[in-house]
Amino acid sequence: MTFPIVVLISGSGSNLQALIDQSLQGNLNVEICAVISNKADAFGLQRAQKAGIPTHTLDHKSFDSREAFDEQLQLIIDQYQPKLVVLAGFMRILTETFAQHYEGRMLNIHPSLLPKYKGLNTHQRAIDAGEKEHGVSVHFVSAELDAGAVILQASCPIEKTETADTLASKIHSYEHIIYPLAVKWFSEERLAYKNGIAVLDNKILAESGVMYHPELI
Ligand code: GRF
Repeated sequence: MTFPIVVLISGSGSNLQALIDQSLQGNLNVEICAVISNKADAFGLQRAQKAGIPTHTLDHKSFDSREAFDEQLQLIIDQYQPKLVVLAGFMRILTETFAQHYEGRMLNIHPSLLPKYKGLNTHQRAIDAGEKEHGVSVHFVSAELDAGAVILQASCPIEKTETADTLASKIHSYEHIIYPLAVKWFSEERLAYKNGIAVLDNKILAESGVMYHPELI
């Protein structure tokens, strides 16, 4: 039996591509039932269409309020009855009602070692702050921005010559490993969400989740 998921995007969709590739290669037993974008020109929509996945565009600018947009988005998502909603570069602040509806069954990937650097421009902010390392986090989504329970992180050193672009590209390659891995854990019921806490193999995870290392694959 495959595990139905819906993926939400706003842009390039390279994380979506990683999920598509891992499932085509048989490493991830999920069915991506639909890809939904709030931007019509998101390249990820083309990636989905190429893979034969139904797509929807829901332009947030044609809604009067955040609530109205999220209500319609929820209707589209729920027609697929996904067991997991995967935010993959979905650049929207979610209403509390929406976040609560998918509590414990919605994941996000954020390019920082949470709880550091919530929000935007994380790579440049980490460089400007003189950080020695930076990274990426997969977490359950809660109503507060980038604040839900962390599941998995990957980190890399910040070199002296680093720019936001070089750092983004290093971080992206980790994203494409750890996001499919977290989705796999959830689909295999190894990963769960209990009272706001991430639990893996019946063990409560530390606040920073699991640190990625190759043996985890
Ligand atoms: C990634 O950097 C991810 O961490 C952030 O948005 C970006 C999405 O990239 N949430 P892509 O569209 O998957 O290539």
